[in-house]
Formats: sequence, structure tokens, C-alpha cells
Amino acid sequence: MNKMLNMLRLSVLLVLFAMLVSCGHGEKKHFVIAVSQCSEDVWREKLNEELRIAALYYNNVELRIQSANDDVRLQTEQIERFADDDVDLLIVAPGQVSISPAIDRAYEKGIPVIIFDRRTRSNQYTAYIGADNYEIGKTMGEYLSSALPEGSRIIELCGLSTSSPAIERQHGFDSVAAQRPAISIVQKLHADWTEQGAFRVIDSLLSHPYNAFDCIFAHNDRMAMGARRAALKHGLDISKIKFCGIDAMPQQGGGLPLVNDGTLFASYIYPTRGDEVLQLAMNILTGKKYKRENQLSSALVTSDNARVLLMQNDETVRQQYHLSTLRSRVDKAADDFNTQRFYLLILIVFMVMLIGAFAYSIRAYFTKARINNKLKESMEQQRRMTEDMEQMTKTQLQFFTNVSHELRTPLTLISGPVEQLLEDPTVRGTQRNMLEMVQRNTRILIQLVGEILDFRKVQNNKATLHLNNFALQNELQTWADDFRAVAMRRKINIEVDTSAVDTEAMVIADRDKLEHIYFNLMSNSLKYTPEGGCITTSLQHKDGFYTLRVADTGKGISADELPRLFERFYQAKGAIGGTGIGLSLVKAYVDMHNGDVHAESEPGKGTTFVVRIPDTQPGYDASKDQPATSQAIDRNMIDDSYIAADTNAETLTEHITNAEDFDNDRPLVLIIDDNNGMRTYLRSLLSEKYNVVEATDGKQGLEVAHRYVPQLVVCDVMMPVMDGIEFTARLKEDTATSHIPVVLLTARSLSEQREEGYAKGADSYLTKPFSGSVLLARIDNLLRSRTMLRSIFSGGAQEAADEEQLGQQDQRFVTRLRDIIKNNLSDSDFSIERLGEKIGLSRVQLYRKVKALTGQTPVELLRKARLVKARRMVEHTDKAVSEIAYEVGFTSPSYFNKCFKDEFGVSPGALRD
Ligand code: FRU
Repeated sequence: MNKMLNMLRLSVLLVLFAMLVSCGHGEKKHFVIAVSQCSEDVWREKLNEELRIAALYYNNVELRIQSANDDVRLQTEQIERFADDDVDLLIVAPGQVSISPAIDRAYEKGIPVIIFDRRTRSNQYTAYIGADNYEIGKTMGEYLSSALPEGSRIIELCGLSTSSPAIERQHGFDSVAAQRPAISIVQKLHADWTEQGAFRVIDSLLSHPYNAFDCIFAHNDRMAMGARRAALKHGLDISKIKFCGIDAMPQQGGGLPLVNDGTLFASYIYPTRGDEVLQLAMNILTGKKYKRENQLSSALVTSDNARVLLMQNDETVRQQYHLSTLRSRVDKAADDFNTQRFYLLILIVFMVMLIGAFAYSIRAYFTKARINNKLKESMEQQRRMTEDMEQMTKTQLQFFTNVSHELRTPLTLISGPVEQLLEDPTVRGTQRNMLEMVQRNTRILIQLVGEILDFRKVQNNKATLHLNNFALQNELQTWADDFRAVAMRRKINIEVDTSAVDTEAMVIADRDKLEHIYFNLMSNSLKYTPEGGCITTSLQHKDGFYTLRVADTGKGISADELPRLFERFYQAKGAIGGTGIGLSLVKAYVDMHNGDVHAESEPGKGTTFVVRIPDTQPGYDASKDQPATSQAIDRNMIDDSYIAADTNAETLTEHITNAEDFDNDRPLVLIIDDNNGMRTYLRSLLSEKYNVVEATDGKQGLEVAHRYVPQLVVCDVMMPVMDGIEFTARLKEDTATSHIPVVLLTARSLSEQREEGYAKGADSYLTKPFSGSVLLARIDNLLRSRTMLRSIFSGGAQEAADEEQLGQQDQRFVTRLRDIIKNNLSDSDFSIERLGEKIGLSRVQLYRKVKALTGQTPVELLRKARLVKARRMVEHTDKAVSEIAYEVGFTSPSYFNKCFKDEFGVSPGALRD
């Protein structure tokens, strides 16, 4: 999923990047061009429109047009504001020549300035564009002097006296009039360029006595028309007066049609040419070549050319319209293109996303297919393995069943003769004990074989219910009684409470199977209930069901193990012996009765097994009901050795007490095994040659080992409380016992257990069943081959090599022992007790450990150390022998002499001679 998101993110980024690139491609700098118009009228409107249209052809131009309405102050302000705004270029048509300071400031600030149409007095501008007004005035003068009759009188109506076109046109016209006698200027007037202004001026002229005139030359067409209106007002014959103007605008009411229809006598085209003005501006802005002075061409308009010019204008208008249509089409196409490009980009985004998603799903599909295949393969493999395992288990179980069957005959052939032998009263003592052991263990084997066969029967669905009609509450009392003897021996109280069940109540069930169930539950409880505990059996009969509870005060079972207790071969943590068949058989028998069984437990407080079965079973046939045989369970099986594989304190105390009367010539061997039978056997095997002490688990074993410091330990591996591996590790950590060799015994020959045993310091390993003679030989060998430190005071290579053989714990022990003895040699009061205290061992521990390691007693060792030092002094000093004797801790020189001679074969005096 994340990958897909990443891919989409990437594609969106790519497309956005593409959009940016495509939009930014060919991007031009954006220009702001300000236009300051001096006034508002049709001529300027036309100019502004042409500027706007021209600006459209450049996508990067923003036009800001402002008009001052013939107000010089306002125009000055407007120009200053444009300059403050840092426009890119300023186009000014200055209303009056005096406007220049504002323009100068903008120019000096670095803003290019185009002066248009009118001029100022300043030279501070970038370029000028406009018509030649002097030439216009002059041409008009020349035309009138040739077109008007000799002696024609002209009134010159000038534009605003302070504006440059008025001044220039007047100069041009006057220059001709002065030279041509045909015309004369009879009156020179000034108006403000407007029609109304001109009307007022002429109206005022005609309202007073005035010089006659034949022609009025106004500086623009609007003023000519104003003058005409005034003449009409004063009743002049306007057909006899020639009205001339300038501008010759082509639209209706403009100079051109007015000349054409004879209203005006002549006009002069005063070109607007907004396109050329903007072209010049763009050339300046884009750094192209441009001319500083640009003259726009113009032409005189008379009745001779007015029509043609009008037609030309129409054509131009038409062309312009056509052009603008084309332009708008181009714009539309450009718009369409942009829209399409936008949609295309969106489409591309979606395509990329779609392709990404498609690729992802294809990948996901193949990945899934691959995983599915693998899953299928592994499932198939698993299925095959399960099949193989099932087959293997089946074969194994079949094998066990066969073996179990086969075992029955030899077991019977063992138990029969043994029983016969035991009947003979002359068999006594050890032989009787051994035979009883054989008998007990044969019974255990027979019971085990029986359980396996019963279990197989259930598994193969061959077990059936043999229904009896009986009083369960009575049977329970009987069955429980069989356990009382064993329980009493172990100081366990057995209670049976069936009071909740009607004495008359009868159950229909398989009596033998229920007895098995009870036997197994009781055996289990007895196994885990410690001395002084209690096992309570209770029975209830309610709603067609019997509920049997067997509750003990044992150590309990953890909650996570409870549901698994009834699985076949399952053994809970810390289980004491057993096969794991007993409880699964209980469950199988309960199931056959359509009942259920579960365990409730609180670790540390005890466990309760609860069996619930219906009070009747279908298919009961009274004729097949057999009376109780009391043979369902071999009563001999209810035996300590079978039920309680754990502590048998009585027996142990006995042996440990006896340990005080050891035969000192024999080595002491500690036997640790949780199985009483095994201990008995080992004891009988070893007691011929060795003193024996016993323990039933590792923990107890450690206590005994610490107290007696045996020469060797024979220890079982699988034991409750503390197993043999942990025991060995702890034994080897303790200074008092670290030197003791350990022989581990186990029923399992697992190599990893063996390795772990050796790693923890075990010296030998025997797999059960083992031969007694092999064990004896192994023990003998170990005791003999034990590293004996021949000396610990010679300081020679042999001593170092011997020490190397020891474990680290023992090496440290020898070093400390040697140091303590050396440091205290001269102290005659230094006793073995003090030595033990210093080294942290009891007298017995010290004695046994030192004897085991050196073959000498601590006393002998101390004496030897003193004598070795004394010999060195005898040989290398001049001190008197008696002085040396005292110095090495002897209180009597004669005793010193004796010991010295005993040790070295020569008296100290003789050694000096
Ligand atoms: C327009 C106008 C024209 C004239 C020109 C002179 O504002 O008055 O009629 O020719 O200005 O600058």
C-alpha cells in the first residue's frame, strides 16, 4: 500500500513539475506602462483605444491610463504617483509646456519617458513621438493662400496658448500668412481646444463690432465647429465663410466626413497611431533599437481627397474589425489550447496514477500468487509431515502394544516364581528384600503394560462399556479404603463424603472403568500430596448426574497447564515419574460414559479433579450384569513405591543417622534418587564396599553432601525439586564439596543431557538400565584416578602439574590453604580448627576435603609444612636446632627431632654435619 502511495505521490509531483515547466516556458517579463493624458475627448479616446488594442498583442503589458482633464496640477500629481509606483515606462501627453518638472523627476528616477503629441520645454525625455505641428500650420496656410480668393480675411482660432501644438501650429500658419498677400489674418484668438470654448470666444467676438472675415482657421475641428455654431447663432451666412480645422477624425461628426459633406472647408489629419506609440515603448523596454525623435506622417484633407480618405478609413476599419475578429479567434484558440492543456495534464495525472495502480495490482497479484503457491507447498509439506508422523506414531504405538502384549508372558513368568520363592520362609534377609523388590517392580511393570493396553483399546475404539447397576457411594468407600494403609504411612488423611447421595441410589455405569478412574485420580493425588496433607473424596447426585470430586492439598498445578492435563502423554511441570497415560485414560473412560472431567487448582493450595457422569447409560442389560470381582485393580499396586516416588523421610532419616557409625576405612558414597526402589537397589549394591548416605532429590542431596563431604556421589538426573544437573552445578560451586566426583544416572540417553551434565561438572554418566558391576567399576575407577596432590609445599613442577588437573574452585582452595598454613607456621598454637575457620569449612569438611585432595589429613599437612620450612632453615641458617623447632611451631625440640627424622630419614643435627 505504501509503495502505491509513494508511486502516486511521485507521479503527481512529476505532472506538477511538467505543468510548471510548460506554463513557465517562454515567459516574458511583465511591464507596467503608465499613460498620462492631458485631457478627455474623442481624439484621445481613439488614441487610448489604439493603445489598449496594441497592448493586447503583447501578453506581458499592463496599461494604466489616467486623464488630467486639462488640469495641470492634477496631471502633475498623476505623473508623480506613477513615478512613485515605479512603473516601467511613462507615456505623457503634457497639457501645457510647464508640466515638465514632474516629468523630469520621473525621468531622473530612471523611468523611461515618452513624450507624445505635445511637448514641454525640457529635454529630459527618452523619446518623442507625434506629428509635426509647425508643418501642419504651415501646410494649412499654404493651402488657404492658394485655395481662397485674393484678399481673403482669416480669423485664426488657436488652441490653448500654453500648449505646444497651439504654439507650433500658429508659428507654421503665421510664417506662410506673413509672406502671402492673398490671405491676411484679421484676428487671432485663443480657446481651450474644446468646441464650447471656441463657441464662447467667437460668440463674444461677434457680439461686438468686429472685422469682417471670410475664413476661420481653428487649431482643431472641434473648435472650428464651435466657431461655426457661434456664426450661425449670430445669423452669419455660413455658406460664405470657410471653416477649417485640424484632426480630421474619421468617425461620424469627425473632421473627415465634415470636410466631405462641405461643412468644413479643410482639415488636417492629426494622427493618433496608438500602435506606433506602444511599439516605441516596447522597443525601449526590451532594449531594442529606437529613435529619440519620431515624426508621425499626416496629410491635408480637402473636398478633393476627403471621400477617398473616408473610403480608405472604412477599409481600414473593416480590416481592423477583421483583424480583431481574427485576434479574438486566436485568443479563443489560445484559451482553448490552455484549457485543453490543463485537461491533458489532468488526464496525464490520471493515466500515470492508473498505470501505477495497474502495475501495483499486477505486482500484488503475482506476489499473492507466489505466496499462495508457497503456502500451498508448505501446507502440502505439512500435511505430508503430519501424515508421516501419524503413520510413525501409529507404528510406534502398534509396536508398544505388541511389546506390551509380549511383556505380559515373561512378566507373569517372573512374578509367579518370585511369589513362590517368597512363600518359602527360609528365604530371609537381603535375599528376601531383593525378591520383594523384584516382586514390587514386576507389579509396576504389569500395571504399566495394563495401562498401555487399556489406552490402546480406547484409542482403537475397541473399549466398550460393561454396564452394571450398583451403588457408587458404597463402592467409593471400599475403593478409598484400599489407599488408607499407604496414606497412613505417609501421614496423609483420607476423607470420603458421600452423605449428599441417597443411600438407595443406584447408578448404571461400567464399575471397573469407574474404579480405574478413581484409582488413577487417587494415585495422582497421593503422589503430589505432602506429609500431613489431606485427600477428600466427595460425591453428589443431582439432576441425573453424579459429580465425583477428588481434592488434595498438594502443591497445585498452574492455570495454563490445567486444560492439557488430560492430553495423552502430557506431563505437567515438576511431574513425578509416570507415563502421562493415567489421566488421559480417565478422560477416555469419562467420555465413554458421556460425562466430562476437569481439574481446578490453585498453585500452593491443591488440586481438585471433578468427574461428572450421567446416572444411567443406554443399553443396560440386567442379565449381563456381573457382580464386583474386586480384581479390576491389583490392590498390591497401591504401594508407596508406585504412588509416591518422592520423599520417604522415614527410610532416609534412618540411613542418615547411621552415617555417624561409618566404617572409617571405607569411602563414603552419597546416593541421590527419588525412586525408593532404585535407592534400595543402589544401597544394596554399594554397601558392600562403601559407606552409603542417601537423599531423594538434588536439594536434599546438597545438604547431605555439605554435611558429610562424601568421596563420591551417584545421582539421578530426572528428579523433583532439584534435578541432577543443577545439583552437580551447585556441588561444584561449593568449596567444601567442589572436589567430589559425580556419577549421573538417567533413564534417558539424550546426548544433550549428557553434554549439559558434563558441562556442569559431572565426572561420569550412566544410562539406565545399567549393570551393577559397571557402576561399581566406574566408582572404583573414579575414586582411584582422583588427582592426588603429592605435595603442596615443594613448589616444584610436579606440584604445579598436579594442581592444573584440579577444577578452578579446588585450585583456589589449595592456594588459600597453602597461604594460610605458610603464614601461620611459627605459631605453635595454630590449630586445625583455626585453619578450618580461616578457610570457611567445618572440621569434618576440612578433613575430608584435604584428605581427598592430598591423601593426607590437615594435621599431617601442617606438620609437613613446618618440617619443610625447618629443613630449609637447618640447611641455610646457623640457628640452633632447638631455636628452629620453636620457630616452626614445635613446642618440644625432641619431638621435632623425631618428626624431622621420620619425614626426611635423617635428624636435623646429622643434616648439618
Ligand atoms: C485633442 C486635441 C486635438 C488637437 C490636439 C493638439 O486633445 O485638442 O484636437 O489636435 O489635441 O494637441
